[in-house]
Amino acid sequence: MSDSSPKTGTPARRELAERLQAARLGGGQERIERQHEAGKLAARERIELLLDTGSFVEIDALVTHRCRDFDMESRTIPGDGVICGHGTIAGRLVYLFAQDFTVFGGSLSETNARKICKVMDLALDNGAPILGLNDSGGARIQEGVASLGGYADIFLRNTLASGVVPQISAVMGPCAGGAVYSPAITDFIFMVDKTSYMFVTGPDVIRTVTHEEVSKEELGGAGTHASKSGVSHFTLPNDAACLQSIRLLLSYLPSNNLEDPPAGTSDDPADREDEALDTLVPEDPNKPYDIHRLIRSVVDDGEFLEVHDRYARNVVVGFARFGNHSVGIVANQPAFLAGVLDIDASLKAARFVRFCDAFNLPLVTFEDVPGFLPGTQQEFGGIIKHGAKLLYAFAEATVPKITVITRKAYGGAYCVMSSKHLRTDVNLAYPSAEIAVMGPEGAVNVLYRRELKAAGDGAAELRTQLVDEYRHKFSNPYIAAERGFVDAVIEPRTTRPEIIRALRQLGGKRQSVPPKKHGNLPL
Ligand code: HXC
Repeated sequence: MSDSSPKTGTPARRELAERLQAARLGGGQERIERQHEAGKLAARERIELLLDTGSFVEIDALVTHRCRDFDMESRTIPGDGVICGHGTIAGRLVYLFAQDFTVFGGSLSETNARKICKVMDLALDNGAPILGLNDSGGARIQEGVASLGGYADIFLRNTLASGVVPQISAVMGPCAGGAVYSPAITDFIFMVDKTSYMFVTGPDVIRTVTHEEVSKEELGGAGTHASKSGVSHFTLPNDAACLQSIRLLLSYLPSNNLEDPPAGTSDDPADREDEALDTLVPEDPNKPYDIHRLIRSVVDDGEFLEVHDRYARNVVVGFARFGNHSVGIVANQPAFLAGVLDIDASLKAARFVRFCDAFNLPLVTFEDVPGFLPGTQQEFGGIIKHGAKLLYAFAEATVPKITVITRKAYGGAYCVMSSKHLRTDVNLAYPSAEIAVMGPEGAVNVLYRRELKAAGDGAAELRTQLVDEYRHKFSNPYIAAERGFVDAVIEPRTTRPEIIRALRQLGGKRQSVPPKKHGNLPL
């Protein structure tokens, strides 16, 4: 065994051991204790929990800052406040950086940014995910523009790596000012409840500028970003749970855009049917049901990793496997706002669809949508351009696409939700599907306004009769099936085998978009 104690060995080896020990200690034991008291782990402890045991290889442990102002030359700590390197998660290569709050508050210096850029470049060159554990006071104040430039260097790499390798950010402490934009560009943000926050300008500046009083937690805590802004995708109660969740997420993803996702190891039978699904969708079209029940019933072992579970809950998105093949699931949620599509739901689903398309994850869509949410709030907020994003995302996606219409597929939302017309490969419908320009009540009001007015006291009875007629004529899957817009009407119990069959059929799918620099998604 080699002797790495600073007190023994040759002078040269002693110096190395001393430097490495200084890097390992970062800002010192006392500051590590302070991290613990604040409910946070130290950067190295986080790395240990995140990676497979013993797999971490550190890069640039001996880098120090070059700042010569503010007496900084006398204050150098090897590593300079960020720990970088690579390791494995479930045996697969990942690159990572972990900001060390015990060293100058984890603030970003010029050299510290170079270290981060180095691992980002390596991740891109080697086709492996890049993971960032953020815990930092932001730009190193003593370094001024050199630090700001360092952030911009990172943002550039985030942008270039987007869609090439998965990028995951864990916010495990402060993340303020322009620093938030690196996580914002990455694919997924994890936040730790009560110990992390993200904002562009903090409570003090807000008080000065707008006289608004708001706490750090309320402004940019994990709860706020999980449910109000939608900035974060996952909220975990502590550091350890957060790091475990990152491992779980990666299990569904390929390492880069040229690979397929890793296969699962479930022995859940591919031909498993579930009788309970035959009665899941209530006969009364206005009665809600929980789409999670359908999802958990049909995916391998009932395992579903929901993304954004507290934001725009009228649409549900997340990862699961069918027959051991990873997929992205997009589902309207009839149990929340009747599953209507609004601005937030459109944005949430569109970004998810684009992620799945970039990383070769087939899309499975469960559709029960009464339409887009009407009203001035939505129109003034730009539902036109935001809804168009979802349409664009589904239309552009070239991965295998499978849609199951369980009940309502009304109006524009029918087109948007991965309809046959948007190059969806397999479109299935339950016998309970209702595919029409609008719901029966709305349609009857438009088509028979004069007749209803003329009917006087008999208007209610006439309306019921007309609604029944309309429902009989349009509120079913057969007109769409007769045109081939729906490939098959299936018994709900067979949903899982049908989806697995479809995925197997589409295993070799190759489709492209016309050559172009890039499209102009309605941002
Ligand atoms: C240099 C910093 C620092 C920074 C913290 N420290 N932030 N050093 N540059 N940005 C140092 C502190 O001086 C202190 O050093 C140690 O880190 C721990 O900080 P504390 O303040 O003692 O910790 P705490 O009380 O937990 O408060 C944490 C904090 C606070 C809320 C993050 O430090 C803070 O407000 N820092 C400044 C945040 C900020 O405004 N950053 C710039 C954001 S704008 P000692 O030696 O005393 O222990 C930005 C622009 C990016 O980042 C632009 C990109 C385009």
